[in-house]
Amino acid sequence: MMLLPGVYQVAGPSVSHFFDATAYLFPCDGELMLVDCATREGHEQMLANIRRLGFDPARLTRVLGTHGHYDHIGGAKLLRESFGTRLYLHSLDREQVETGDSVRTTASLLYGVEAEPIPVDGCLEEGDSFQVDAGVLHVLHTPGHSPGSCCFVLEHTSGLSMLFAGDTLHGGYHPLIGANLDIWPESLKKLTSRHFDYFTFGHCNPQLLCDADERIRCLVQSFGNYLNPWFKDFYRSYPY
Ligand SMILES: [Fe+2]
Repeated sequence: MMLLPGVYQVAGPSVSHFFDATAYLFPCDGELMLVDCATREGHEQMLANIRRLGFDPARLTRVLGTHGHYDHIGGAKLLRESFGTRLYLHSLDREQVETGDSVRTTASLLYGVEAEPIPVDGCLEEGDSFQVDAGVLHVLHTPGHSPGSCCFVLEHTSGLSMLFAGDTLHGGYHPLIGANLDIWPESLKKLTSRHFDYFTFGHCNPQLLCDADERIRCLVQSFGNYLNPWFKDFYRSYPY
């Protein structure tokens, strides 16, 4: 499904497999790039979705991972084997993916499957940027849900900006996956210090969430109130 010109959602719980986090396709100068790439279980449906949009998966050259969890990058090895697609992640989530750590990647913890070792071809850093047909995609390092969690910000050619939050927004917390409630608020502050027209996150159906600044402010206000990190307290008002 097209979200903006040059931006397509090709995986997610309602469009590929219920294990899958959202994944986004960006054509770039004849090649194709993904932000996240679904699980092994959702892999074939994700490829079918890409073909249905008129694109050839054989042109998938890169996956930029928001973080090293199975639901976001579990299918990366299948892409590598079929198309030679390279995987890029922040260095702090690299080891768990390369060693196939089933707990740290959440594969066994949440999905009842074993992770497999997946080579990581390169590291993402704060400030990295990637030219795509839709504009420029910037990397923000936003640790908290996992040490290597990243968000991506698209400066669209239309002038609009869009945040791809991965699990930095609405993501779960558990020490076993390296989540850290002490550093997560700093990452959220990084998001509220910027302006976005739209945003999306790791576990939603195909949609563009508008009024992004206010919605993100509400999420940050609710963060850390209770055992569920996104629990909304009852004594303040939340427009969203
Ligand atoms: Fe995650």
